[in-house]
Formats: sequence, C-alpha cells, structure tokens
Amino acid sequence: MKIIKAKDYQDFSKKAASILAAQVTLKPDSVLGLATGSTPIGTYDELVARYERGEVDFSQITTVNLDEYKGLDKDDEQSYSYFMNKHLFDRINVDKKRTHLPDGMAADPEKECERYEKLIEEIGGVDLQVMGIGNNGHIAFCEPSTIFEKKTICLDLAEATIEANKRFFDSADDVPRKAYSMGIGTIMKGKKLMMLVYGEGKADILAKALLGDITPEVPASVLQLHPDVIVIGDEGALSKFPEC
Ligand code: GLP
Repeated sequence: MKIIKAKDYQDFSKKAASILAAQVTLKPDSVLGLATGSTPIGTYDELVARYERGEVDFSQITTVNLDEYKGLDKDDEQSYSYFMNKHLFDRINVDKKRTHLPDGMAADPEKECERYEKLIEEIGGVDLQVMGIGNNGHIAFCEPSTIFEKKTICLDLAEATIEANKRFFDSADDVPRKAYSMGIGTIMKGKKLMMLVYGEGKADILAKALLGDITPEVPASVLQLHPDVIVIGDEGALSKFPEC
C-alpha cells in the first residue's frame, strides 16, 4: 500500500488527478472506476483543467461508477449520474455512451445488479478504481455488515450515511433509503485502487480501516488485502499515521 500525503486540498486534488491522468496516458482506453462525494470534486476540476490545456485525452476511456441512489432518475440533481455529468463528463471529451452508473430507476433491482456486474466484466474490469471512505468506514455504499458483499447489490443505507449525506438534500427525509453499490468483491477486482481521504474528520476511521483488523464491520479494511492500493490523504486525514 502506498500512502501519499498532500499539503492541502489543492495539492491533494492535483496528486489524485496526476495518477488518473498517468493511467489514461499509459492506457488511453482505460476503464476508470469513479466515485462521488465532496472529496473528489477538486480532482475532477483538476482533470478538466488538464484536458482544457490539451494534456489529457479522454476520448477512448470507459467509466463505471461505484454507486447510485435507488429511486432517483439520472436527471435528478441529487443523483450520482447528475453529479458525474456536472463535475466531469460534461466538461471533458469522454464518450457519454461509455460512462456507466447503476440505473436508479430500474424496475427490477435484482436484474439491475446482475446487469451492472456483467457490464463491468464485459468491459474488461476496472483498471483504476477511485473511492472515498464514509464516516462509518463504508466504501461505495457497502455499509458496515457481517459479510463482505461479493457483487453489485441493492442495499439499505445505514443511518450514519443518511445523516452524513443529508447535507446534499433539503432534509434527511429526502435522502433515499436504498442504493445500488458495487460489492466489495467487485471493487477488489479492480487492478489498481486509489482511496482519497480528506480532512481530520476522517482520521480515526481511516486509521481503523488501514491499521486495524480486517472486518466487514469496517468495509474499507478489506483494502489491506489488495496488492495495489494508493491512499492519498492530507495531513489531517493522515494524522493517525505516525510514519507519514
Ligand atoms: C457517499 C458515497 C461514497 C463516498 C462517501 C464519502 O456515501 N457513496 O462513495 O466515499 O459519500 O463522501 P465525502 O467525500 O463527501 O466525504
């Protein structure tokens, strides 16, 4: 596991964008696994800046996102589909037909999970998967549990997640109670994983995940078992890592 410490949010975003840009330069038809949340917004802004300067060409990439709220249409401003278009896809030369998220409005959730899992296999798997960490240790929407979910699932959000994500909605009542999420098994199949963690508020859960026991109670702890993980954190997020 490679841990990279950034000075501030700008430095953090640039470091993350550099790794994504290097991936696309080395393999122009990369499959990028992408994430939402407030943490990667600066990374996406930085990728857009590099695209505008002619430094990166996204025309051949394919993307798959970690998760999507169940019950939200892709044009709903709170959907992750809307988020990705707004922060990245509408601003770079990606072929929109090759950007994928679970369909929050799918009629049959079980079939939708199967479709998404199969799609990821068919496009050859993820070359570089970006992710954040929830305050409760979740990755994507894989909440603390007694098992590591193997495949894409439709699951109930934890109260802690509804509480954390209500800031994007008018009220906690408006936060969907269910979401589609890649499973831990799906995420672990990614060839390279990059976790982005910003701010002191994440220091304790990050230390628990990466230095503590490997347990589905802390889903992000599974990253300890992956052979190629990069963690980018700022001084606050990495404050519980004495060696950094
Ligand atoms: C949501 C997403 C996660 C993300 C988390 C942290 O719950 N499903 O993928 O990692 O938020 O978000 P933030 O970066 O805003 O702290």
